[in-house]
Amino acid sequence: MMKGIFIALEGIDGSGTTTHTRLLSKWLRAKGFLVVQTHEPTNKRIGRLIREILRDPSIQPAIDALLFAADRIDHTVNRIQPALDKGKIVITDRYVESSITYQSSSGLDIEWVKQLNQYALTPDLTILLDLPPEIALNRKHRPKPKEKFERTVFLEKVRRCFLSRAKELNFQIINAEKPINEVQQKIQDVVEPLLGNLK
Ligand code: TYD
Repeated sequence: MMKGIFIALEGIDGSGTTTHTRLLSKWLRAKGFLVVQTHEPTNKRIGRLIREILRDPSIQPAIDALLFAADRIDHTVNRIQPALDKGKIVITDRYVESSITYQSSSGLDIEWVKQLNQYALTPDLTILLDLPPEIALNRKHRPKPKEKFERTVFLEKVRRCFLSRAKELNFQIINAEKPINEVQQKIQDVVEPLLGNLK
């Protein structure tokens, strides 16, 4: 069986994972690679349900954790694994590390969240786009000051969790405060050495 390359882009809201997933896919396609560009939550049924209820205060964090994990199993089995088996490059905008960091920062036991995600694959490369929440939130939208403060405090926790996981598990940490083209160049620099395996 052929073996593709699985790359996950992770980071707090507003860190640029969506933009850089798109740019990285474009660069790799221009080089002639077969690329599957994807994201979580997915656009399938469970992913759509998640988007519908996300940030509804009556939905418990544990429910979010279960749904994200369910969406991820469907995504992995029906989309990611088949593409990897065909030797493609799969680039996902968020994967298991988003659950471990966001759901544990909303008060859940991190070990339980890991357990729920035991069926997730380990990407060949996880890239963390790192920057302070205040800067990330200013880029994304301009919420009311109170919401913004609450969101900043929460994302600060998420960021710390991402950074500690990155150090423990050797993710590539990229400073996402820099301009888009510089960040994308750094991403391409860390992806390039993996490509030899596909040729
Ligand atoms: P995302 O689609 O990246 O946000 P947007 O479309 O607004 O740019 O992700 C939606 C939110 O879901 C984001 O705040 C991160 C969160 N999330 C989790 O809490 N756990 C997860 O497992 C995933 C994949 C995302």
